[in-house]
Order: sequence, then structure tokens, then C-alpha cells
Amino acid sequence: MRCVVFNGAGGSDVVAIEERPDPVPGKHEVVVATRFAGVNPADILQREGRHPVPSGAPSDIPGLEVAGTVVGCGEAVSDYKVGDRVFGLVGGGGLSNFVAAQEREVVRIPDALDDWHAAAVPEAFITAFDAICVQGGLASGDTLLVNGASGGVGTAAVQIARAVGARIVAAVRSEALRPKVEQLGATVLAPGEAAAHVKSLGGADVVLELVGAPHMAANLDALARRGTIIVVGAKPGDEATLSLRDLMSRRGRIVGTTLRTRPPEEKGALAQLFARRIVPYLASGTIAPLVDRVFDLADVADAFDHVRTPGKLGKVLVAT
Ligand SMILES: NC(=O)c1ccc[n+]([C@@H]2O[C@H](COP(=O)([O-])OP(=O)(O)OC[C@H]3O[C@@H](n4cnc5c(N)ncnc54)[C@H](OP(=O)(O)O)[C@@H]3O)[C@@H](O)[C@H]2O)c1
Repeated sequence: MRCVVFNGAGGSDVVAIEERPDPVPGKHEVVVATRFAGVNPADILQREGRHPVPSGAPSDIPGLEVAGTVVGCGEAVSDYKVGDRVFGLVGGGGLSNFVAAQEREVVRIPDALDDWHAAAVPEAFITAFDAICVQGGLASGDTLLVNGASGGVGTAAVQIARAVGARIVAAVRSEALRPKVEQLGATVLAPGEAAAHVKSLGGADVVLELVGAPHMAANLDALARRGTIIVVGAKPGDEATLSLRDLMSRRGRIVGTTLRTRPPEEKGALAQLFARRIVPYLASGTIAPLVDRVFDLADVADAFDHVRTPGKLGKVLVAT
């Protein structure tokens, strides 16, 4: 197989492309041939040596997600056969043209999605769905505040929330991107204004925090009674000061979450819930993944840099 590798920790200098032996599926695994793979902020933290790789995952091949066609099945695999198109989560090793994945952690790609758009789905949409719907309990008529709404997870969250019938206020830093996020179904404001607007509407039932500490005091101030702040993104070392009396009086919750570190059973159950609740919206075109840019594999180091560059709309992919 052809894959991206990190030769130690550092900057672009540690990024290389190598040929390795093709993966052999374990008993409950499928091997997926990919054409495109998503690049995520966690890959860059891993390159810098600031994001530990879960045990069992390839330690030097980045990539948290997979989408493509099954080319091999382990002896206990019962749901898929060679030729099926699947997408889902992996603990690592996703930036490769062949990826081994747990059967339970992948789900079928709807025919309506081509390989390109399918590759933009798993990490962003499963993270967004888990945060706002599963953990936040977002329901029809609720109000959602999304901070950092123009990236992969943010654009997924806005679309999922619209599909479930929620009212969405989104904070987007780039003025040029605000009309584009507005088209997805949100009222879009600058980061300094969104929380105050939500407060004037009666407060947020769910706040999706994708940026981190700078927003937390305003998030709490804008939280509705019994609302939940879900912290999905924060910079290493982020610290916030909050009024615990305000948290108590709102009977609010602050929840921190990660996907990658969860045990396979939990990730598998989440992927199957995602298949039932959200994939039908992808199949009907009600929600659609946004791809900001696709890089050639030879330019993968630039793709990592691009993920950190402000002004993207949606996901960054690499052609594997
Ligand atoms: N916990 C988990 O399991 C999990 C899973 C997936 C992702 N994440 C995390 O969630 C975050 C979002 O992921 P993503 O894939 O959507 O990343 P992304 O595509 O790079 O999007 C990041 C978004 O945050 C905005 N942003 C960044 N810094 C900002 C700041 N200082 N003020 C205001 N807005 C800012 C960006 O706007 P600009 O374009 O203006 O920079 C962009 O809209 C990342 O921190 C990622 O590591 C966590």
C-alpha cells in the first residue's frame, strides 16, 4: 500500500510517502481501497507529537477516517462483501490507499454520494452528530449555538441541526464565509456577537464549542436552563474561568468529548446509530458534505498546513 508516514515528531520535514505491505484483514475487519482521505486537525497535532495514537492503531500513519470500496473481509465479517462501499472511523492509518477497519465501525455509503464527498463525511459528521444529538440531546425546536461553524465539524453540525428541526446560530470568523454558512440554515454572526444574539433569543439548549477557552464564559452566559455546552475542540493548554453559580442557576452541563480514544464497542455503536439517524439525510441530499480543497498525495504536507489556514469552508481531502 501507499501511505503517508510521520518520521518522528515535527513539521513538514517529518512527512513522507512510503510503500508498505498491504493490510491483511483481522477476523472482524474489512480492508477498504480508498481514492480520497480526510485530513483533520488531530493529524497535525499527531505530527507535532501532541496527540497520542490509540493502542492497536498504526503509530506512524496518520488518518482518523476511511471511505472507499471493500477489497477484503476477515473470516467473521458478516455485514459486508468485496465491492461494497463503506465509510467510518479508524484509530489511525487512514491516510493510505488501503485501510483496515473494524466491521462495526464502518457503515454503507449511500449511492447518492460519490467517493470524493463520501470521504468528507465520517470524522466530521459522526463527531457533530454525537456531540449535538447524542450527548447534547438536540431536538426539534431547540436552539443550537455553534462556535467555529465554517470548518468540517461546524458545517456538518449546522446541517444536522437543520435536518432535525433546530434553530441554529453560528459564529464564523471569516466575513466572506458567513453567507455560505447562512445558506446551510444558520443565522451567522461574528464570534463576538453570536452568543449575545442567542441570549436575546432565550438561550442555547446546546452549545457546540469547536474553538475553545475564549468562548466559554460567553457560552455559559448564553446557556438556556438545563442546557449543555459540548467541548469538542480546544487548543492544548486551553484554560477557561467560569462562574459556577451561573452554571448552577442554569442547571447546566459542560461535557468534554473525544472520539478517537473511545473503545471499539462504543465507536461501533455510535457508527451504527449514525447509519440509522443521519445517513438517510445524506442519501436524500437533505444534508451534503462540503469539501474545501483536495490535494494530491505528493502535496500532503501542504494539505496539513492548509487545515491550519483560516478561511476554509468544510473539509480538506487528499487523493490517495
Ligand atoms: N473531540 C473530538 O473527538 C474531535 C473530533 C473532530 C474534531 N475535533 C476538534 O474540533 C475542532 C474543529 O474540527 P474541524 O475538523 O471542524 O476543524 P476545521 O475544519 O479546521 O475548522 C475549525 C473552525 O474553527 C474556526 N476557528 C479556529 N480558530 C478560531 C478562533 N481563534 N476564533 C474563531 N474561530 C476559529 C475556523 O475558522 P477560520 O477558518 O476562521 O480559522 C474553522 O471554522 C478542532 O479543534 C478539532 O481538533 C475534535
